[in-house]
Amino acid sequence: MIVTTKQLFKVAYGRFAIGAYNINNLEQAYGLFLGNLRSKAPFIIQISKGARKYTDKRFLEAIIRVADGIFPEAIFAVHLDHGDEATCYDCIDSGFYSSVMIDASHESFEKNVEITRGVVERAHARGLSVEAELGMLGGVEEDIVGHVCLTDPDEAKRFVEKSGCDSLAVAIGTSHGAYKFKAEPGKKLGLHFEVIEKIQQLLPGFPMVMHGSSSVPKAEIDRINAAGGSMKDASGVPEEDFLPAAKKGVCKVNIDTDGRLVWTRVHREFFRDHPEKFDLRDPGKVFVEEYAKMLEHKNTILGSAGRLDEVRGRIQVDQ
Ligand code: 13P
Repeated sequence: MIVTTKQLFKVAYGRFAIGAYNINNLEQAYGLFLGNLRSKAPFIIQISKGARKYTDKRFLEAIIRVADGIFPEAIFAVHLDHGDEATCYDCIDSGFYSSVMIDASHESFEKNVEITRGVVERAHARGLSVEAELGMLGGVEEDIVGHVCLTDPDEAKRFVEKSGCDSLAVAIGTSHGAYKFKAEPGKKLGLHFEVIEKIQQLLPGFPMVMHGSSSVPKAEIDRINAAGGSMKDASGVPEEDFLPAAKKGVCKVNIDTDGRLVWTRVHREFFRDHPEKFDLRDPGKVFVEEYAKMLEHKNTILGSAGRLDEVRGRIQVDQ
């Protein structure tokens, strides 16, 4: 069942976070539904601008509609990740998405407000909610290269009031990709909880979103490297930071890189161990299961595992 992102945030706020997982193809979509259902978790499917361009934007939409029919007990929202204005409007008008993200964080504060405001007006008229971004995450998100600049809590309050956005991606120390933290003596690797706490104080009840949330497990990197990869110094967000962040108002946790790492590990190991094979379905089947397993683990860490019946009940009461 496709629900609104707002409905999910309402149940999750201050208690647990909803996993927002990026998908690009059939195998990821299948593993996504299996993993979330096995762990009985509500979830958010994220489609990025790049994913819409990878083939034809209608492919993923069709796959998700079919999956919704095959797995009627699933409860999820469909979200555009890192949209520009044109992509946001296209998604809003398509009638398929639950919410969109307008990322104008590279613009000045005033310009970011103006662009976000425009998207909010059109989205709200069609019943969609809007995620905006303030501050700059580091790393590379498809074509967006960012240099870390933490969100200023006072600016966040003004931004939310002026733009009318429904949730805010905050820069709290994370970055996109597999190389998030550089180990330096005496430096704590992890989230800036003081920023999250201040934003929650200034905007009580307002959902925050955490981008760049892959934990880049060392065991995964070691296996990739042992199977011919070369990913030195990769590091991610400590898993023990997720639930404390959720309790302080982070409702949505974006995870893309960790899924790519599972894909890379599975395929590198598969062809190393079976050099004679060439059927794409053989590693594909392994990937689906491994990706599903990863999601079950993530949902446990985020506190969303086992919440499906509760969420279904709350949504029915609200309708
Ligand atoms: P990761 O690169 O840490 O998975 O973050 C993904 C993300 O934030 C997508 O918007």
